[in-house]
Amino acid sequence: MVPERAGGYNGRRMKFRSVPVAAACRGELVFVLATDGAVPDAGPLLRGAIAAAKATGDLATAARKVSLFHQPAKAACKRLGFVGCGTRAQLTTEQLRRVAAVAQAAAERAEVADFALIVPAAALGDVEAEAAGRAVAEGLVLGAYVYAPPRRKAPKPRAGQKCRVAAAGLARRDEAAFQRGLELGRIGAEATAFARDLENQPSNVCTPTTLAQAARRLAGGRLHVKVLDRPAMQKLGMGALLGVARGSDEPPKFVVLEYRVPGAKRNACVVGKGLTFDTGGISIKPAGKMDEMRYDMCGAGAVLGFFHALAHGGLGEHRPKHNFVGLIAATENMPGPNAQKPGDVVRAMDGHTIEVLNTDAEGRLVLADAICYARKFHDPAVVVDLATLTGAVVTALGHEMAGIMGNDQRVIEALVAAGKAADEPLWQLPLWDCHKEQMKSKFADLANINGPQHGNGSTAGGAFLSYFAGDTPWAHLDIAGAAYGGLHKDYYKGGAAGTAVRTLLHWARTL
Ligand code: BES
Ligand code: MN
Ligand code: ZN
Repeated sequence: MVPERAGGYNGRRMKFRSVPVAAACRGELVFVLATDGAVPDAGPLLRGAIAAAKATGDLATAARKVSLFHQPAKAACKRLGFVGCGTRAQLTTEQLRRVAAVAQAAAERAEVADFALIVPAAALGDVEAEAAGRAVAEGLVLGAYVYAPPRRKAPKPRAGQKCRVAAAGLARRDEAAFQRGLELGRIGAEATAFARDLENQPSNVCTPTTLAQAARRLAGGRLHVKVLDRPAMQKLGMGALLGVARGSDEPPKFVVLEYRVPGAKRNACVVGKGLTFDTGGISIKPAGKMDEMRYDMCGAGAVLGFFHALAHGGLGEHRPKHNFVGLIAATENMPGPNAQKPGDVVRAMDGHTIEVLNTDAEGRLVLADAICYARKFHDPAVVVDLATLTGAVVTALGHEMAGIMGNDQRVIEALVAAGKAADEPLWQLPLWDCHKEQMKSKFADLANINGPQHGNGSTAGGAFLSYFAGDTPWAHLDIAGAAYGGLHKDYYKGGAAGTAVRTLLHWARTL
């Protein structure tokens, strides 16, 4: 039996709102961000209490350190706390995201459901006000994220947290920018939590059908969603995707999400690998860690999270010049009796024939048809695909960054910049003609793997995809490392990271 409702984040665990600093100085618990070498200025109401804390020498400023003071004299709050931000050189968006998550966790430990967070100007350092607001919001919301697994005894629901956030001592323009950032950060973080929830579900709960339903639930307003099933894919000639789906009883789904931007003509297409489980197929994977292949839909998770953000106002004031089209190729890769076999030749939607030398190199097969679909039906100005494509990218880059490659340096650089702004680093890998050459086959136009003598893994995947992108500006993000398994960092505590949602959102705002 499938657990009826696997647990998860309900998107409502952390509700924060932006308030004037005077309104943040009262209540059960007030946190102030404290930077090295500066007495934090959180406005006149807390000046005396902060000076007193400073005088006792207990006001810690070391990064992520929390100090709490009870019943501070002369203050209107019951408890006053500080979260250290470290030295000025340590003041980055990543640090702000982390200290906000530290404050959230400390409030939870103190069992205070309604607390305040004051961000003095000194805690911004050189970080721009909007970026600071974003980081703080992301830390609060993602810090509160927990994936609650299904249990015999349902855990008692966690009380929702409320947080009043105020910046102190900012110029009026910066204050407005900070508030704008808070709102954009909230939208991006809730979308990331939405992606994490889909990604964390086991494969018997989150199937291709589940992904399609999640997409359908986002539809409305400017967002239109349609789902193609197996017969529709057959009609379109998606032989590469369907070849992968053959081994599974679970029906494959191809999901199309269209977000219309007023006045835009062409489209930016974002394609996600949605393997809700990857056994490897007939080229079956070893048993150890195979359970992690539940995460093989994290490309699709990123796309769904991105559209969640779009549907909830994630573009803010920005009016990109393109519409957004999300394409999700969702299936399982199973070794069922009807599964494709090594050496089988399939035909992708654009006519390319492919020799499937390894059924475990299935991500590139499903993406091939998705990229063909984008080019045939959506006149893309740009295509970006996201996929947990290769173990080799984990070997090359680890879990703290994703690999990026493509056929258009400007597209790549725009994405790298977006990743940097979102603190989700992308590192470019080469995609040269020598790599493309490796993908040619004697028995078909292309083979889905290169030879063991070649050595390169991630760029082989990218090179294969480049044939389907043709001359359309395109970039490929290999998120196999970044999707899960990274260092724990206050706003991420293991499991699926919901990676790339914030990067895509950032990128979308610059188009
Ligand atoms: N989903 C895997 C890639 C993967 C591996 C993701 C480890 C996350 C962690 C992908 O479908 C795969 O199996 N790739 C093969 C390609 C090979 C057969 C050329 C791989 O990386 O081993
Ligand atoms: Mn595989
Ligand atoms: Zn896979």
